[in-house]
Amino acid sequence: MIIGAAYYPEHWDKNRWAQDAALMREMGLNTVRMGEFGWSVMEREEGCYDFSLYEEAIRLFAEYGISTILGTPTAAPPAWLCEKYPDIYMTDREGRKRGFGSRRHYCYNHRGYQEASRRIVSAMARHFKENPHIIAWQADNELGCEDEVRCYCEDCRLAFIGWLKEKYRSLEALNESWGTIFWSQTYTRWEQIVLPARTVVDGYTGYGHNPGLLLDFAGFSSDSLIRYAQMQCEWIRRFTDRPVVHNVVSEFCDNYKLSALFDRAGYDAYPRSEWDCNSPGRTGFHYDLTRGLKEAPFWILEQQSGPCGWNVLGKTPEDGQLKLWSLQGAARGAEALIYFRWRTCLFGTEQFWYGILDHDGIAGRRYREIGEAVCEIRKYEDIFSLPNHKQTLLLYDYDNKFCHEFQPHASGFIYKEEVTRFYEALLRLHLSVDVGSVHTQPDDYEMVILPFCSMLDTADFERLEKYVRRGGTLVLTPFTGQRLKNNRIVPQTLPGVWRKMAGIRVEEFYSLQEEQTETEELGNIRFWREKIALETAACAASCTVNGRREAVISENSWGKGSVFYLAALFEDCEAVLDRICRRKGVAGFLLPQEVECIAKEGKEYLILLNHSKEEKKVRLDGYRRAVDHQPVEAVPGMSWAAVQKRERLL
Ligand code: GAL
Repeated sequence: MIIGAAYYPEHWDKNRWAQDAALMREMGLNTVRMGEFGWSVMEREEGCYDFSLYEEAIRLFAEYGISTILGTPTAAPPAWLCEKYPDIYMTDREGRKRGFGSRRHYCYNHRGYQEASRRIVSAMARHFKENPHIIAWQADNELGCEDEVRCYCEDCRLAFIGWLKEKYRSLEALNESWGTIFWSQTYTRWEQIVLPARTVVDGYTGYGHNPGLLLDFAGFSSDSLIRYAQMQCEWIRRFTDRPVVHNVVSEFCDNYKLSALFDRAGYDAYPRSEWDCNSPGRTGFHYDLTRGLKEAPFWILEQQSGPCGWNVLGKTPEDGQLKLWSLQGAARGAEALIYFRWRTCLFGTEQFWYGILDHDGIAGRRYREIGEAVCEIRKYEDIFSLPNHKQTLLLYDYDNKFCHEFQPHASGFIYKEEVTRFYEALLRLHLSVDVGSVHTQPDDYEMVILPFCSMLDTADFERLEKYVRRGGTLVLTPFTGQRLKNNRIVPQTLPGVWRKMAGIRVEEFYSLQEEQTETEELGNIRFWREKIALETAACAASCTVNGRREAVISENSWGKGSVFYLAALFEDCEAVLDRICRRKGVAGFLLPQEVECIAKEGKEYLILLNHSKEEKKVRLDGYRRAVDHQPVEAVPGMSWAAVQKRERLL
């Protein structure tokens, strides 16, 4: 397995490199990732390329048996480039230019930036094409991670018009699709089309624009990023056949489409930083989503290696926590694990983002703990790399994410948050879970959850329909079937195209705002509740709501399978899914709450991760600790990991 650290040769005296390489080797690392912010080193002035620093570093690390993942440096355009093109910067919704400083200060549709990127990427790929120590290329770094994707400059407006012309062919079709007759927004010339920048109503309602325009602009912006990434991939591949990877983390891009460009999708895992304090489930969701982006093993291109923040720190990881996060990623299907970063930088915005080594460069506690993780992962590499068991599939979709982002419909509702809650519930029920796109083939799964799917292509609908007909279990939620792909509302009674399969109709809905509806049976209902009429469905769970008994979960038989409809947003998704699983015999393992269980194909192996601070006792019938397992020397009171193997019952 590829295990390594991000290393920035441009940050350290050359005399130190060998010591770093030796320390890395000693702890079992075999890879460094470098280059992704080095544009001003590689091209100090326009057209003057000098890759010698990286070449030297790559060579030195290779002497210690350490290979390189080389990143193209385009995430940080240098000052000379921005000076040359004062209009290179992206424009935000308020019409302000985001100037030089930090990184990603550019617009994806700026010709000068595109061309300069093409030149540096191709010069680099040409230069390093024969280098045997480069095992992979990382195209750029975290494209779209800094909210730079949706740019409101004139270049983007013109490019958007071009994109719309290709999509709609005629203005009449566009006007019809968006419903521009509303508020007299009918366009009579393409050139009149605006970007959905700030409007007069934004002060009190956020987005006041036409929903069709908003969704198309989100799609166009995502495509602009993807086209830019595609250019980089094409140029890298002209010179080398090494895998091209990327850390796919943008919230503003269709990451399934983006990942199609790469040999492997990557993720950057910072469970606990200045900005986040993620539960194991939230971290697991991202690992599984990244695996689902290509339905393939994924790479962790950055893994937290210490306390981190830019100006203030997030909570310091407890002893054992860095190790546990590393094991979680590997167990969920990472085939590469790169820590960020090797040594804490002495300068720059991230001088408080702690690496494996502190500022002083001395190997300390974190070095030892991560070293243990590396040992442990290597020991179980063959088991960790087995495919995960397929049992439940949670569908996650970007068009739906975008449309809910502009119009959540229910105050407080955030698509990704709510989908993640389902994921966390599945984990707590100790079920195996995959996260995937709406195009994923569902047939191997016992249960598929399609949350908040307002819009769906007919082909995807038909695939799911067939899945149920053949015996599958499908779970639907509020907002299902509400919109067409162009973000208009359907004229049918909800859940629209799903009505027959779900066997219900939504008769009333209640936007709850701050209010919560308490139920004894299934916990609190937040944000949204519906009154459903059972047409052919049976009531799978009812609650007393405001003194009246109401069906809140329905079950309808469809072919050999069943469709469940949840008529509310429940706080306790675990209780809800537990009901459904019990009805359908979808069985998880009986394990303590904070123990995460990753079952490998056929459930032959279970990897158990204890996320609590106490020791937990587990007994699993038919399983025993893997033969060669020596219990990990866990830091007292902190987590452990164990691999259990099913006894062969012959
Ligand atoms: C990532 C990024 C790294 C570094 C790290 C810490 O998002 O890829 O370059 O900035 O965060 O902030």
